[in-house]
Amino acid sequence: MSVSPKVLLMSGALAALSFEAKADGPEFQLKQGANLDVVEENCAACHSLDYIEMNSPFLDEKGWQASVAKMVKAFGAPIEAADQQKIVEYLAANYGKK
Ligand code: HEC
Repeated sequence: MSVSPKVLLMSGALAALSFEAKADGPEFQLKQGANLDVVEENCAACHSLDYIEMNSPFLDEKGWQASVAKMVKAFGAPIEAADQQKIVEYLAANYGKK
């Protein structure tokens, strides 16, 4: 029996992803603002918080709402509805498309 090359490839990609998240995670600092703590608590588990800054040129409040909903529904982020609302408010105020 042999391990399929596909499985090996996938685990390699996952290892690279988690390494990257660890390497640049804690150093990136989001702007100060209301509900920043809620964002830091809920949005840093899977990827670096600089994803937020990278997407700020494209997303307005509606866009952020959809993005946060995607993290929860598509990727399984365990974030309560009340916190999702606070996060969207923070993102729209500090990283919303102008
Ligand atoms: C359960 C894991 C998880 C959590 C928690 C999470 N994300 Fe994500 N996020 C992902 C995955 C998976 C991707 C897409 C794959 C990638 O590029 O790494 C992603 C991608 C993104 C992107 C890039 C654009 C996109 O839609 O692909 C943004 C912006 C983003 N996340 C913001 C957030 C915010 C804001 C929060 C907190 C509300 C959050 N994420 C919490 C898993 C998560």
